[in-house]
Amino acid sequence: MLIFDVTLYENIEVYMSERFGNWQFPEIEEGKPTKYNWVVQHVDKLHLGYKTDIGAFTYINAQYGVTIEDYVQIGSHCSIYSISTIDDKSGPVTLKKNCRIGSHSIVMPGVTVGENAIVGAFSFVNQDIPADMVAVGVPAKVIKKIQK
Ligand SMILES: CC(C)(COP(=O)(O)OP(=O)(O)OC[C@H]1O[C@@H](n2cnc3c(N)ncnc32)[C@H](O)[C@@H]1OP(=O)(O)O)[C@@H](O)C(=O)NCCC(=O)NCCS
Repeated sequence: MLIFDVTLYENIEVYMSERFGNWQFPEIEEGKPTKYNWVVQHVDKLHLGYKTDIGAFTYINAQYGVTIEDYVQIGSHCSIYSISTIDDKSGPVTLKKNCRIGSHSIVMPGVTVGENAIVGAFSFVNQDIPADMVAVGVPAKVIKKIQK
């Protein structure tokens, strides 16, 4: 199945400019919900790209660095952890350009999700996901390549 037909658009910038005509960088206060109801701790270590879209009730702990590149979409109720105290893990998280993270997913410390990759809803992402792949599950495994 064709998940995202970017060929309908000249390029991703055209698609996203239609989707977010008047996108602006959100105001983010340490530990407080943004107007979209997502929360960041260690805001100073968050690098947020242009035309990103983060769903309500998502939590980002950027203590060891979280980079969310341009056009990334994160569903609601996700957790992006650069530190996980339960299992004593830490490391930077990178969500590369135009990747998408399905709702209720968890991204663990040290993980990079590749450009254009899609993570299915309710996934536990504890390893890197290569570019242009769809990965799902607990733990997240690649199931297919995105067709362009
Ligand atoms: C991962 C996803 C993008 C795949 O969509 P798709 O390309 O249409 O794929 P399909 O529905 O054909 O699923 C392919 C297989 O993966 C399984 N699968 C799909 N999503 C899954 C998920 N999140 N977790 C586990 N398995 C999943 C399907 O059951 C199917 O398995 P099968 O081949 O054994 O029948 C989609 O299922 C998904 O999770 N989207 C996120 C939606 C979301 O969070 N939206 C809210 C934010 S806007």
